[in-house]
Amino acid sequence: METKLFSTSSEDINNAGKILKNGGLIAFPTETVYGLGASAYDADAAEKIYTAKGRPSDNPLIVHICEKEQIDEIAEDVTEEAKMVIDTFMPGPITIILKKKNIIPKTVTAGLDTVAIRFPSHNVARALIKAAGVPIAAPSANLSGKPSPTKARHVINDMTGRIDGIIDGGDCNVGVESTIVDFTGNKPVILRPGGITYEDLKNAGIDAEIDKNILKSLSANEVPKCPGMKYKHYAPNADVTVVEGEKTVVKNKIKELLEENRNKITGVLSMNDADYDTAVILNAGKDNKEYAKNLFSSLREFDELGVEVVFAEFCEDDGYGLAVKNRLYKAAGQKVIHV
Ligand code: TXA
Ligand code: MG
Repeated sequence: METKLFSTSSEDINNAGKILKNGGLIAFPTETVYGLGASAYDADAAEKIYTAKGRPSDNPLIVHICEKEQIDEIAEDVTEEAKMVIDTFMPGPITIILKKKNIIPKTVTAGLDTVAIRFPSHNVARALIKAAGVPIAAPSANLSGKPSPTKARHVINDMTGRIDGIIDGGDCNVGVESTIVDFTGNKPVILRPGGITYEDLKNAGIDAEIDKNILKSLSANEVPKCPGMKYKHYAPNADVTVVEGEKTVVKNKIKELLEENRNKITGVLSMNDADYDTAVILNAGKDNKEYAKNLFSSLREFDELGVEVVFAEFCEDDGYGLAVKNRLYKAAGQKVIHV
């Protein structure tokens, strides 16, 4: 299949929108990560997403909208708290889970009777959904298991030959995916931390629970509420270990680990501009917000450079920290050293 590159001109966005309307697949930028879209009303188109990504068919897709009015078209039982989230945080990096209406085919929700809904704030994403004239089902536009794409280049590497087109909209600002909040139970539950923090929700009057699986791997027989939780995620080829704790202690521990791994090509993802004696030091940024933005692209860069062993610093447990830590722990296959 030929994969066409599109710019963000209105002509290109309209052409890409037509492809979506006609059942094709288009990757597009959002404020969080790039998405791989198909019409959310077209089961066959949605099916193609799973094939293009190599995604397990029991992992549901998020439905993207460009107007709040579309929520009532696709979902019901919108709770008061869900309404507060819609009013306060949409458009933005948050996804809400609600009971689905029949118009959304089961392929999109992987058989669930709930649907994940997101209203992105990115102008190109919104213009594209508008041009398509239908809500757009879109997971992150990476091959299943790879770090989510935050640059057009990442999508080109993963998806060329597999989809109809890619809109190059530059780098994604947030860098980690949207926060997912489930409103179908007694109390709102954060299933995935992301661009909107627990504290942001609390300040808006939403008292959400944090799902206990966010920072651990599932045991063999556990059934997660968010099917994506059980899959290996964000994993680069390199062997990643997170070293977590106070700055100077983390630094000393990593120096020790680098020494022990002298016979391998090593790299460090560092927030501290430390003077490590290693082949590759990538800068994670000065705080967790920057860390979130740099994380996925750094993981891909280590692979491109052929790094075999990566040590990632984690030093601050603030608002954005939970989202960063969740992705880091997964990239490391839960290999975390607390110092
Ligand atoms: O920021 C984002 O959310 C990005 C951009 C493209 O919008 N999208 C994204 O999609 O991260 P994806 O497919 O990579 O992650 C969606 C997650 C998966 O873990 C999936 O299991 C979960 O959302 N999910 C989708 N529908 C669900 C539902 N009805 N109930 C529970 N979890 C659901
Ligand atoms: Mg994903």
